[in-house]
Amino acid sequence: MGENRVNSTGFEIPEDFSESQKYFPTQPLNVSLFSEIDENYESVVYSYLVKQLRLDASIEKLNLDAPEEWTIAQMGSGRLHLQFLQFLIRLTRARRVLEIGTFVGLSAIAMAQALPNDGELITIEKFEKFRDLAVKNVQKNGLREKIQVLLGDAHEMLSTDAVEGGFDFMFIDGDKGRYLTYAELLLPKLSERGLMVVDDIFFQGDVFNDEPRSEKGRGVRDCLVAMTERPDLDVTFVPMTNGLMLIQRKS
Ligand SMILES: C[S@@+](CC[C@H](N)C(=O)[O-])C[C@H]1O[C@@H](n2cnc3c(N)ncnc32)[C@H](O)[C@@H]1O
Repeated sequence: MGENRVNSTGFEIPEDFSESQKYFPTQPLNVSLFSEIDENYESVVYSYLVKQLRLDASIEKLNLDAPEEWTIAQMGSGRLHLQFLQFLIRLTRARRVLEIGTFVGLSAIAMAQALPNDGELITIEKFEKFRDLAVKNVQKNGLREKIQVLLGDAHEMLSTDAVEGGFDFMFIDGDKGRYLTYAELLLPKLSERGLMVVDDIFFQGDVFNDEPRSEKGRGVRDCLVAMTERPDLDVTFVPMTNGLMLIQRKS
């Protein structure tokens, strides 16, 4: 066994590390200088970043109504995830945003907050109960002018001309089994430098099984494979939450 090398910061680099350890921030290689070994590193990092970005009360401030069977925390996106979407919206200077899967409007409201004054966001929700809560939450947060909540099956709606194209930013967070269809129907509706963000692209790890165990996992993987094999698209992944896939047309 060779001796470990020590870099200029005094950090010992093991001889045998895999590239995957360099990629994921919580791998031993990337936490080796963290001193509080008994603490949960993920929650320390998360709380630190939330505090530094002053996001502590970002969700509570919205005072959202939620259904009895699901909490916002269970079904909605987390605060660093929402802040990342907001960052991307500003980065791409998006004006028109489309979302598939509204739930009670948390991500729609967060994204709309990052839009310019003349920006607009359309979000599609299949279930009336969630749509009603979303409409109420949008009103409560003073975003009625910017957010349109459409009720219906996104697949059916997108198969017709119900939703016009020209979106600068899309967030796909609806039924996973249909991801590939959504991507295919929506890519022509993306503006020239538009960005599509597909949520849950690792789908609880099912995507990486030799054979996905669930229909949803299969749907997500079909989408991942098809998008990464298209020569006209630029695709990248962010191992945040359950995995994000970012797609843009090559210029
Ligand atoms: C994970 S939740 C969305 C969470 C939301 N984007 C957020 O971060 O706050 C997924 C939503 O997609 C909705 N959904 C499922 N199938 C759908 C379909 N075919 N068309 C439209 N919405 C659908 C579900 O009812 C649910 O509200």
